[in-house]
Amino acid sequence: VTIGDQTFERGPQGATHQVASGETPTLTTQQGVPVSDDQNTEKAGARGPALLEDFHFREKIFHFDHERIPERVVHARGYGAHGFFELTDSLADYTTASVLGKIGKRVPAFVRFSTVAGGRGSFDVARDVRGFAVKLYTEEGNWDLVGNNMPVFFIQDAIKFPDMVHAVKEEPDSGFPQAQSAHDNFWDFASLSPETVHMLMWIMSDRAIPRSFRFMEGFGVHTFRLVNAEGKSTYVKFHWKPKQGLQSVVWNEAVKINGADPDFHRRDLWESINSGDFPEWELGVQLFDDDFADKFDFDILDATKLIPEELIPVRRIGRLVLNRTVDNFFAETEQVAFCTQNVVPGIAFTNDPLLQGRNFSYLDTQTKRLGGPNFTHIPINAPKCPFHNFQQDGHMAMHNPKGRANYEPNSWGMGPRENPQTGYKPYAEELNGRKTRERGELFADHYSQARQFYTSQTPTEQTHIKNAFVFELSKCLTPAIRARVVAHLLNVDEKLAKGVAEGLRLEKMPAPAPAARTPLTDLPA
Ligand code: HEM
Repeated sequence: VTIGDQTFERGPQGATHQVASGETPTLTTQQGVPVSDDQNTEKAGARGPALLEDFHFREKIFHFDHERIPERVVHARGYGAHGFFELTDSLADYTTASVLGKIGKRVPAFVRFSTVAGGRGSFDVARDVRGFAVKLYTEEGNWDLVGNNMPVFFIQDAIKFPDMVHAVKEEPDSGFPQAQSAHDNFWDFASLSPETVHMLMWIMSDRAIPRSFRFMEGFGVHTFRLVNAEGKSTYVKFHWKPKQGLQSVVWNEAVKINGADPDFHRRDLWESINSGDFPEWELGVQLFDDDFADKFDFDILDATKLIPEELIPVRRIGRLVLNRTVDNFFAETEQVAFCTQNVVPGIAFTNDPLLQGRNFSYLDTQTKRLGGPNFTHIPINAPKCPFHNFQQDGHMAMHNPKGRANYEPNSWGMGPRENPQTGYKPYAEELNGRKTRERGELFADHYSQARQFYTSQTPTEQTHIKNAFVFELSKCLTPAIRARVVAHLLNVDEKLAKGVAEGLRLEKMPAPAPAARTPLTDLPA
């Protein structure tokens, strides 16, 4: 029979069957057994009960029942694409990393953009930070730059991350999703944690409602190290600068877009790449040494601070092009696992207490999310250079060691073996300290850079920031929390604080929050 443009065979009770022929392959079970009928369960008589022996039915339903894996605990909603990174300016004097050494060298890349707070099914144009996670498949292993579209972060120490995320996500009793609207818990946490103030300025700015993933900057946020052949370290901050420029929507547009098309950002990326309009970013670096770090007004280990580009200009050294959409969303975008500890020889960590905590957290959470220790065997996570080790077994092991030896040293002449020449070495930083939970003294000024950011904005952008504070805080129902936020804003900009207080109809202007360190005034505007 023909229905429209489709041809079917009709079954005995009127069910229609599309059957294999010519180019169309035969449907099989996971065991490869050909399937004769995918429309009807095997039963005891046409109107009888289903039979347990119907292995095709049981396998199909069983597999469906197990389709979901835990969503990421943060950054659950994201969208990825393939591309390449090409070096245009060599950093060979600063690092042994081959990916940063040879001009013209290209390596494959996979990028996942994401929102942070919303669940997997939330909408794209939420007011939120955007994840900007890049995996470069280099010849010395995978290098992940797991960044955001803002150069600073809410907190200074990873131990506060669970509290911060709990406060921003749904409340434990009501279970309301908080993808878009900030609420009492978030503002409560933020107002009690002055270190969030700089990031609050960014998150209330237009940067938090980008027009598209293609029009966002990316930042590695932390200070990392580049290490050269002599073992000399240079500090580095990484930046992605969009060739497309920076664009945001205004809040009214965001609200309408989210209602009309919750997939606005992912659709934009999919369509632009598939129409041959490949988005491109330049990789930029800010390089500096201990002398600069010692003279800088803030601690370079503090992720709530940036290094002003007026002080250290961004040097463009490469380009990232996204030119291929995924074949399968789940296999690639859902299963990709980025981790800050994935670095290659020539790139090293600093003691940033946020970075140090992240280095533990990602591998830990991915072992749960992706069902065990073998998620690097999934093609999207596997290195594209040769790799050999003696790790074995566990769920879904695809690359167990071959042959007799699964340990080293061994007498059987069987590799792999360590390589003192090419192997990864930590930067030989001298350490001498007492164990303590104290923070560095220079972590204490939470307002100067917030002010610097605010005053760098155009009057229109400043109005957007004020309006965003008023709008978001108007949904915070506890007057004391609203007043606390305004108390912090008084240390950032008096006009802003007054505008927010007025917008919220605060009865009494609070006193400025005590500043732990006298705010600096001599920063470049
Ligand atoms: C996921 C960035 C801080 C824990 C992500 C992702 C990005 C990101 C981009 C999404 C990765 C993807 O697309 O798969 C950042 C940045 C941070 C930061 C830029 C601060 C500078 C932290 C901290 C922790 C943390 C302090 C914990 C101590 C996680 C976890 C995930 C995640 C558990 C989910 C990973 C997964 O399931 O694959 N982060 N993050 N992040 N982040 Fe962070």
